[in-house]
Amino acid sequence: MTIALSTANPAEFTCDALVVAVVPNGRGKIELASPRLPGSISRRVLEALQAVGATGSCGQVTRIPAPTGIRAEVLVAVGLGDATKQADREARRRAVGDAVRSLTGLRTAALALPIDTDEQLRDFAVAAGLAAYSFTQFRAKSKAAQQMPLRTITILLGEDPKAAQRAIIREANVTTEAVHLSRDLVNTPPSALTPARLAQQAKSAVSNLPVTVKTWDVPALRRDGCGGILAVGQGSVNPPRLVRLDYRPSGAKAHLAIVGKGITFDTGGISIKPAANMDEMKADMAGAAAVIAATQAIATLGWKVRVTGWVPTAENMPSGTAQRPSDVITVFDGTTVEVLNTDAEGRLILADALGMAVQQKPTVIIDAATLTGAQRIALGSRIAGVMSNDPRAREFVCQAADRGGEAVWPMPLPEDLRASLDSATADLANIGDRLGGMLSAGVFLNAFIPSNQPWVHMDIAGPAFNDKGPYGYTPKGGTGAAVRTFIEVARALAAG
Ligand code: BES
Ligand code: MN
Ligand code: ZN
Repeated sequence: MTIALSTANPAEFTCDALVVAVVPNGRGKIELASPRLPGSISRRVLEALQAVGATGSCGQVTRIPAPTGIRAEVLVAVGLGDATKQADREARRRAVGDAVRSLTGLRTAALALPIDTDEQLRDFAVAAGLAAYSFTQFRAKSKAAQQMPLRTITILLGEDPKAAQRAIIREANVTTEAVHLSRDLVNTPPSALTPARLAQQAKSAVSNLPVTVKTWDVPALRRDGCGGILAVGQGSVNPPRLVRLDYRPSGAKAHLAIVGKGITFDTGGISIKPAANMDEMKADMAGAAAVIAATQAIATLGWKVRVTGWVPTAENMPSGTAQRPSDVITVFDGTTVEVLNTDAEGRLILADALGMAVQQKPTVIIDAATLTGAQRIALGSRIAGVMSNDPRAREFVCQAADRGGEAVWPMPLPEDLRASLDSATADLANIGDRLGGMLSAGVFLNAFIPSNQPWVHMDIAGPAFNDKGPYGYTPKGGTGAAVRTFIEVARALAAG
């Protein structure tokens, strides 16, 4: 999928579909918000749209045969809502996403949208790119029937693009590719994405980039004392791995460490999960996918910020070799942990990876993890919880998420929850208070972070996987959660 720019007149651009914007005109009718369509054609378009009941409400998509005078095959009008009210940015991004998704099965589209600012160009370009996605790798007989997303989306501009606008389109393409990669990894079934395969995928994602990759196999994990990753992985015939991606451009001042939970499948282990919806636990490596994809994007863009991506990955299975509730393990920093529930496995593999990340003393460490069901109870399936040992770092990440278009909400790490993680046998237990389970998981992770090390934890259990129908630019299945946030954090750190 490619996003391109052109200064062609919308009527004269050859493509399968021309997308125009409509808004309510305040008098019960609609008006076109696509400048540069010749007046006579505009009138015909408006009449046709009005005849089939287009209202201009935000996100409404209306498809008609392209009227004479327009070279595209079909014309799609997308409602952008009350333009004078300057509808909220996400609603407009979703509207463009809805329009692009409605064009599945066609190859090329042109967008004639009201673009007055670079911010609007970025919003529309990224939304269009993210919407043009489908996952068909595992379809055989149903593949032909499966409709493919648009191949090329050309954004029509009134004047020659400036360097800044070309940079926005390049970033939109790179961001799109990264989000699509992370969705692909999440959607891939766990039989095809074992920890070893995920490690290979991490490597190939950055193979043509100035990124060095180090992979720890089981003997290396033993040598370095990664007891959490080993314990979670010991029940599976597919052994665990740890991957480190290092992007170290010259001239970088800040150092961003990103850490992603990479459980390729979470059965719960001996503390086994119920059967209902267990299939969704293929998405338990979404944090890892985001780390891999964002590292690829940041290195591709060549931004001057050092990025270290950490991907601890294991398959959490019940078996004769699996860890048992009450086992005590020793994680990377020497802390002993009593495993009271083998389904609280994400925090165990993160304990090792965070412990290693801490040794480099980066500017900030951010982890993304599908860590708790409690996150979804607290914030629902579309908003990630953001916790930190440093209010300024938390605010920094929340603002980056907002700029990137991801919904997040700040959450506390109450100190009094720490006592609920006390163990009768070891330094720490791996489960704490069930009430506020997202927070006690965060408090557990915090135990591996020195107080002077800025660290932010994103619980993306809900937003990483869309188990309902597609909406806006978000497909069913893997969503690519945290990728845009990581990219925006890197942009801010590179800017200094
Ligand atoms: N991967 C799950 C969390 C999860 C649940 C993500 C549902 C997405 C959807 C995690 O490993 C887990 O099982 N957490 C337990 C922790 C509990 C045992 C303290 C949970 O949330 O139930
Ligand atoms: Mn679990
Ligand atoms: Zn899990």
